[in-house]
Amino acid sequence: MGDLEYGPVTARYYDAAYATLETLGPDVDFYRGLARETGGAVLELGCGTGRVLRAVAEDGGACTGLDSSPEMLDVLRAKGPAGIALVAADMRSFDLAPRRFDLIYSAFRAFQHLATVDDQLRCLSRVRAHLAPCGVFAFDVFKPHLERMALVEEPETEDLRFVHDGDEVVRTARVLRDGATQCMRVIFRYERQREGRPVGSESAEFVMRWFHRYELEHLMARAGFPRVEIFGDFDRSPIAPDSPSFVVVAR
Ligand SMILES: C[S@@+](CC[C@H](N)C(=O)[O-])C[C@H]1O[C@@H](n2cnc3c(N)ncnc32)[C@H](O)[C@@H]1O
Repeated sequence: MGDLEYGPVTARYYDAAYATLETLGPDVDFYRGLARETGGAVLELGCGTGRVLRAVAEDGGACTGLDSSPEMLDVLRAKGPAGIALVAADMRSFDLAPRRFDLIYSAFRAFQHLATVDDQLRCLSRVRAHLAPCGVFAFDVFKPHLERMALVEEPETEDLRFVHDGDEVVRTARVLRDGATQCMRVIFRYERQREGRPVGSESAEFVMRWFHRYELEHLMARAGFPRVEIFGDFDRSPIAPDSPSFVVVAR
């Protein structure tokens, strides 16, 4: 059994792996833009290694990053001071009272690690307790493509290649799905190669919940957010059949 959730293996490779993904980047501009619009204090839930939050913090606002993985937070800390307060806590149960935030967001599908409706409602209730009056909560999840979600298993396939500490690393992914719970278990294997030969392999796995559009609308209404917009991408385009994401902005 490899690393579960965001332990040392994922933390070690996270930045190098996702630097290769061209689809990431517009999300940084989107959340940074929201922070400029709302002004004031910002909290990211599941901030990880600070891919988004360090950019948001460059604008000088008070930023707090919360994550349940000490290893991911260590990677962020090692990048040096960025004026970000870090909190090791679970987004389902955090309590930063009496602090309130003008913007709370959760980037790159971190919310999808909340597998059950109870987990999601617990998190949303913590968000509401920490939002300033007129505060904004935003997050993104992937838009499920139904043909793919119908596959119970996707066999191990190469999905990324990147360089880490001078070695080439080939990441493969195997995916197991349970349509009844809308959950997928993703098993990544990171194989280090030198001159084309394997020199080591580590694995990590996590569970992600997928969401449908109207489910998200109902969830947010049930959690007490009266004004909710859901876009199909970070450019705030409407949801279309081929949209990559649901980008939720709630007040
Ligand atoms: C896909 S990463 C996203 C990291 C960062 N937001 C980014 O955009 O690069 C998901 C992050 O959510 C964190 N996470 C997962 N479940 C969590 C929970 N229940 N409470 C707090 N953080 C959690 C993980 O440790 C991980 O750092």
